[in-house]
Amino acid sequence: MAKQMRAATYTEFGGPEKVSITTVDIPAVGEGEVLVRIKAAGVNPVDYAVREGYLKENLPSSFPVIPGWDMAGEVVERGFSARRFDVGAEVYAYARRPVVQHGTFAEYVVIPESYLALRPQNISWEAAAGIPLVGLTAYQSLFDAGKLQQGQTVLILGASGGVGSLGIQLAKAKGATVIGVASQKNQQYMRELGADYTVDYKSAHVGEAVQQLVPEGVDLIFDCASGETLQQSLQALKPSGKLVSILNHGTDLDPAIDFTYVFVEPNSRQLGHLRELAEAGKLRVPVSQTYTLDETVEAMKQIQTSHTTGKIVIVP
Ligand SMILES: NC(=O)c1ccc[n+]([C@@H]2O[C@H](COP(=O)([O-])OP(=O)(O)OC[C@H]3O[C@@H](n4cnc5c(N)ncnc54)[C@H](OP(=O)(O)O)[C@@H]3O)[C@@H](O)[C@H]2O)c1
Repeated sequence: MAKQMRAATYTEFGGPEKVSITTVDIPAVGEGEVLVRIKAAGVNPVDYAVREGYLKENLPSSFPVIPGWDMAGEVVERGFSARRFDVGAEVYAYARRPVVQHGTFAEYVVIPESYLALRPQNISWEAAAGIPLVGLTAYQSLFDAGKLQQGQTVLILGASGGVGSLGIQLAKAKGATVIGVASQKNQQYMRELGADYTVDYKSAHVGEAVQQLVPEGVDLIFDCASGETLQQSLQALKPSGKLVSILNHGTDLDPAIDFTYVFVEPNSRQLGHLRELAEAGKLRVPVSQTYTLDETVEAMKQIQTSHTTGKIVIVP
């Protein structure tokens, strides 16, 4: 087994220029852990937020850091007592650990097997690697926090990004009516994913446009954009409706609103459910661009724009 690997690393917080491609030792595979050869790694906005040091109060980093929290790959070695997956199993994971250090923008990752689930077999490695973080975020926001039910209406703000793209499909699979909000260039894209209605936040007042579509208001707002888009949308929330945000912590909101902030948790059982949905053809992952490991800096610059459509993925 290889003792070293190529990985993107940084040794201090800062901009994308802090990231370089280096050769590092592969950590020893401990009790309950497996070594996974990474086939593809999804890129998320949190990867640059962690690199900039924005989350250091809650998520400590141990340098050098390998960024990246999403991956799909193949189990190549098992540690003592790790028996859930055979060598050769094709798995995927949201690999956020308590200390930020061993990420997925690398050839291999050592990870407790409890993080892993079998990956969907009917989609590419790149698409599978694009699911875990955004799929779990949408799942936990819509269903655990938002309690979305069949027949309800959900308004998704930022519905063309990684989280929103899966959010549209999960809400449709539940039998909800979906209104997606993004800019003009993504209106057709949101409809192809299943949105019943779409709104362009640049050319319309979001709340007024949604009230014209559903005068009784929406049951749930799933906020993946925040800012002015969120403020405008609030007038379209039913008095009994819920607001779930993955950005806004609620400090500038009317305390009368039924509000929950979600920070996505690893959950291998829910990853198993997402696999079933993908294999049933109810979940697809539009990968808008792939990058090599050597292009990690470009990938991190793209995700920092806040205007990525679907998912971008690194193939090491
Ligand atoms: N709390 C958590 O657990 C958690 C988990 C995942 C993500 N997040 C955060 O949630 C946000 C979304 O994540 P993501 O992965 O979906 O990001 P992303 O892939 O970068 O997508 C962002 C999307 O938002 C749209 N957008 C940008 N500005 C907007 C605005 N003012 N109004 C409405 N839509 C707008 C963009 O569409 P256009 O290009 O058409 O504008 C883009 O498609 C990020 O800030 C991320 O850090 C939090």
